[in-house]
Formats: sequence, C-alpha cells, structure tokens
Amino acid sequence: MLKPLLLLSTLILSGFGLLPKPNPTAFPQDAPPAPAATTKANPVKVTPEGMARAKKQYGYDCEMCHGATGDGKTDLAKDMKLTLVDLSDPKSLADVQDGAIFDLIKNGKDKMPGEGDRAKPDEIWNLVHYVRGLSQTK
Ligand code: HEC
Repeated sequence: MLKPLLLLSTLILSGFGLLPKPNPTAFPQDAPPAPAATTKANPVKVTPEGMARAKKQYGYDCEMCHGATGDGKTDLAKDMKLTLVDLSDPKSLADVQDGAIFDLIKNGKDKMPGEGDRAKPDEIWNLVHYVRGLSQTK
C-alpha cells in the first residue's frame, strides 16, 4: 500500500523538477533598462583615421559654438549667450567620465544640440577622444 504512494509522490516531485525555471529575460518589461553610457570608459581606440574624422566632424558640428581650440570664445556662443566650459583647459573635463561626454554628444543638453542618429557610436566615441585631446596641446 505504501509503495505505490511513494512512487506517486516521487513522480510528482520529479515532475516539479522538470518545470522550467522562471526565466527573467522572458519578461521584457521586467528587464533592467539598457545602461546609459555614462559610466563607460571609451571602448574605441585612438587611431589617426578616427581622429581625422572626428576633427572634421567637430569642424562641422561643434566648432561654431566651442571654437577650433575648444575655448568657447565664438561669436555664436556670444550671440546665444552660452556659458561654455573651456575645453582647452584640462581641468574642464577632468571629472567627467567618457560615457557622460558620449551621452552629451549623442543627446545634447540645454542649448547644445545632440548628434542623435547623425553620428555612429564609434564616431561619437572618437569625438570624445577629440574633445579630450583639445586640452592636451597646452
Ligand atoms: C549650439 C552650440 C553648441 C554646439 C553646436 C555644440 N555644443 Fe557642446 N556645449 C554647448 C553648451 C551650451 C554646453 C554647456 C551645456 C551645459 O552643461 O549646460 C556644452 C557643453 C559641452 C561639453 C562639456 C560637457 C561637460 O560636462 O562639461 C562638451 C565636451 C561639448 N559640449 C562637446 C561638444 C561637441 C563634441 C559638439 C559637436 C558634436 C558640441 N559640443 C556642439 C553648446 C554647443
């Protein structure tokens, strides 16, 4: 009498064991949001090609406000009454993480327009290298 019962409960127990484990990724709404790049270090290596492209891009999209040297003393900045940090001063970005600069260039902030989808991620990372480089000529 006891034996079949035992067998039955063993079957039930092992049956539970066969149930798939809850899979957290099966519920996208519970998945953590993709981490912002803010704390990320620059994953792109400095190359002459990357820097050359970034210099060009900076010339098109950034220089009118930040100036060729990065000091921010431009007519447009004056006209728009922008308060710009001096990017040619190494202190300006000393405490700013690479990822935060990436996010800023991608998304913009206040009166600074973001590159959005105009620039590929690796182009933005090269711009991060480039703006850091602006303070390395002093
Ligand atoms: C229309 C003018 C304008 C243009 C164009 C512009 N910026 Fe800016 N930028 C600003 C302003 C304004 C700030 C200050 C934003 C703030 O901190 O409120 C700023 C801040 C910055 C900073 C400092 C971030 C910090 O944390 O202190 C960096 C780096 C920067 N810009 C890079 C760029 C790059 C690279 C481009 C081109 C892709 C660019 N900017 C284009 C106006 C501009």
